[in-house]
Amino acid sequence: MENIDWKKLGFGYRDTDYNVRCYYKDGEWGELEVSTSATINLHMAATALHYGQEAFEGLKAFKGKDGKVRIFRMDENAKRMQNSCDGILMAKLPIEKFTAAVRLAVEKNIDFVPPYDSGASLYIRPLLIGSGPQIGVKPANEFLFVVFVMPVGPYFPQGFVPTNLVIYREYDRAAPQGTGKYKVGGNYAASMYEGQLAKHEGFSAVLYLDSREKKYIDECGPANFFGIKNNTYITPKSESILPSITNKSLMTLAEEMGLKVEQRKIPYEELADFNEVGACGTAAVISPIKGVYDSDNDKWFKYGEEPGDWSIKLYNKLRAIQYGDEPDKYGWVEIIE
Ligand code: PLP
Ligand code: COI
Repeated sequence: MENIDWKKLGFGYRDTDYNVRCYYKDGEWGELEVSTSATINLHMAATALHYGQEAFEGLKAFKGKDGKVRIFRMDENAKRMQNSCDGILMAKLPIEKFTAAVRLAVEKNIDFVPPYDSGASLYIRPLLIGSGPQIGVKPANEFLFVVFVMPVGPYFPQGFVPTNLVIYREYDRAAPQGTGKYKVGGNYAASMYEGQLAKHEGFSAVLYLDSREKKYIDECGPANFFGIKNNTYITPKSESILPSITNKSLMTLAEEMGLKVEQRKIPYEELADFNEVGACGTAAVISPIKGVYDSDNDKWFKYGEEPGDWSIKLYNKLRAIQYGDEPDKYGWVEIIE
């Protein structure tokens, strides 16, 4: 294993030693296989390549002060992948297959889990693709599930430092009743153009409004949105956003810490009322937002150069559970011995 400067890790691809694979053929999922190859052999007519029949997940493992490695809420990711499978007609992967593959991928690459004091973690990327050939637009009858991992640092290079988001009304990430609620590749292809544009213009991500009316806040390109005002944690309710496991966890923690929690439509105008806003997700953790720029109206909503008090408290609480500094009273982590 090469020497890794754990504290300097960004969020990027990196080879590790092993990945775990499972094939679906003749109507059933096979056994888990461990591979040392970073490439897959794929039929040129695989539905994943032509028709975007693919879904992925993202979760993390953390090394505690006690040296133990903890995986965060993988059952939730397993369920979400099943939803994605239903959404785009892929063979549904059993929950136990998913969790066994994740466990095995972490165990086999245990040396790549960053040390406690680095603040980094092991990102786990499960991927399920239609691998069987079709040329008509219909589901494959063969599928491949792969889990690979890599050590990562913060998604937004600044880490826990507030950054700016941008609203562009001329781009949509997902249709109102489309695939936004599934974690499928097509959503990310659809958001890449404006995502790059935002980066080039100095923003960390796009903040999408609802595609139907452009009246309500939806989510960011790679993360959910939340705002805090009047001792209330407020996050969008929408059919076209990904149900974030981080957000779900933060809602639980916010309530426990004495905030009210509201999951509801958030009118665009309400951006003016929040004391703190943030983006949340596995990769993003909590990324505080210092400003939202409405590019169509040349208007800024500003929240401050430093992370807000509640964002700090929520961030610390979540990380404490993930790294095992605080008891896991919700049963969110699984320890890999
Ligand atoms: N929204 C989108 C579009 C995402 O890609 C992600 C990342 O997975 C999230 C939200 C956050 O979800 P989670 O907290 O489950 O990682
Ligand atoms: C994640 O947070 O796991 C994501 O999937 C975000 C992005 C890397 C797509």
